[in-house]
Amino acid sequence: MHSLRDGSPLPHVGFGTYPLRGEDGVSAMVSALEAGYRYLDTAVNYENEVEVGQALRRSGLDRSEVMLASKIPGRAHARDEAVASIEASLQALDVDRLDVALVHWPNPSQGRYVEAFEALLECRERGLVRWVGTSNYTEAHLREVLAATGESPVLNQVECHPLFPQQEMLDVHRELGILTQAWSPLGKRQAQYDAPAVAEAAARTGATPAQVILRWHLDRGVMPLPKSGTPERQRANLDVLDLHLTEVEVAAITALGRPDGRLFGGDPETHEEM
Ligand SMILES: NC(=O)c1ccc[n+]([C@@H]2O[C@H](COP(=O)([O-])OP(=O)(O)OC[C@H]3O[C@@H](n4cnc5c(N)ncnc54)[C@H](OP(=O)(O)O)[C@@H]3O)[C@@H](O)[C@H]2O)c1
Repeated sequence: MHSLRDGSPLPHVGFGTYPLRGEDGVSAMVSALEAGYRYLDTAVNYENEVEVGQALRRSGLDRSEVMLASKIPGRAHARDEAVASIEASLQALDVDRLDVALVHWPNPSQGRYVEAFEALLECRERGLVRWVGTSNYTEAHLREVLAATGESPVLNQVECHPLFPQQEMLDVHRELGILTQAWSPLGKRQAQYDAPAVAEAAARTGATPAQVILRWHLDRGVMPLPKSGTPERQRANLDVLDLHLTEVEVAAITALGRPDGRLFGGDPETHEEM
């Protein structure tokens, strides 16, 4: 369904693990793996990498069957700190290699988002990570990274849902050969389940509104990372390959987008996370 620019396939839907923690968190992640998820998205700042590793082992799946992605935090953008952060993630997850390592936020006021990316390339050279990605990088950040390193991230994980469909970033990513991953793909607390564009497509197809939104992502070439702690919803969120939306339905959902549609003001030009 999705592929990286080297042709490697990625699952159509990944599993968002924030804020699943503790024993309940492990159970929820095990049930996600049992439901068929094969891509788990975590981060140092989710404080659940230990649980992600435990869930993988408890599922009985082989390490090679599940892709693990983690993110270095803003406080670790300096080269040595970034490398140390990846080493600590591997230890917490208890694995030899990450499939995808991302810089979590660019934090432009620190001005080290290129250095952090270079450090992840170094981790790739050392075999600690397979692919290097970014999260919340803007077009300017991506072009700076490309100019400095000759490389773009394989994927950029950005806020993307019907209220904030990221039309321009999708075009930038396409131009640069970057896969778009969507965080808060359902729109979290502002999910547009009752919006006519979503509800009417759900009524026509017999799918749930959440499934319609996830299918909308796929039809735009975006890999969504929905989180659910509920086994039934986990299964439903994965079960969208047989759902077909018309081009008109896809366009109507995209048209729900608003310039101020971000969920919490997470504009990466101004919002920074350490
Ligand atoms: N890179 C970043 O900066 C960044 C930022 C935010 C998030 N993320 C990633 O993105 C992932 C997902 O984002 P998110 O959790 O903010 O938003 P989301 O996946 O859009 O929404 C999650 C919420 O929707 C509910 N839900 C899930 N499936 C549903 C369904 N089928 N019907 C109705 N409700 C449903 C969940 O409740 P239940 O659990 O009760 O089902 C939960 O409250 C995170 O886990 C994290 O991995 C990344």
